[in-house]
Amino acid sequence: MNRRDFMTFVGVGWVASSLPVTIAACASQKNSHGWYTVGTVGDLDQTGQLLVTNSPVGPVLVIGTSKTNVVAVNPTCTHKGCTVEWKGDGKKLQCPCHGSEFESDGKVLKGPAKKPLQTYAAKIDGNSVVVSVS
Ligand code: FES
Repeated sequence: MNRRDFMTFVGVGWVASSLPVTIAACASQKNSHGWYTVGTVGDLDQTGQLLVTNSPVGPVLVIGTSKTNVVAVNPTCTHKGCTVEWKGDGKKLQCPCHGSEFESDGKVLKGPAKKPLQTYAAKIDGNSVVVSVS
């Protein structure tokens, strides 16, 4: 193998070995404006809610559909940390552990929880559901 063949071989190898890193970087969940993708519109539209326990911003519960407003909260109950559930028929978030209830914007409707749920900005971006720490 002469010098030219060797350099071509090394160059192709470098590009090939860099490709997965490049693809992973492009697939990052955060876009340049601070929004994180937490799911797809199809996932959200199936049930009107999308629970992601390990998003880059922490646990997120997105409520809504592509045809309505979407809101997002941290579903960790502020009483003792259980995961609240969206009860769409009652239009409220309910904690299964001790019965606290919250509005969709995180405000406490009923104790024992005293503090509101953390909220996130949320929106539909193309086919993605994205959130941002507000
Ligand atoms: S943990 Fe939610 S009400 Fe106690």
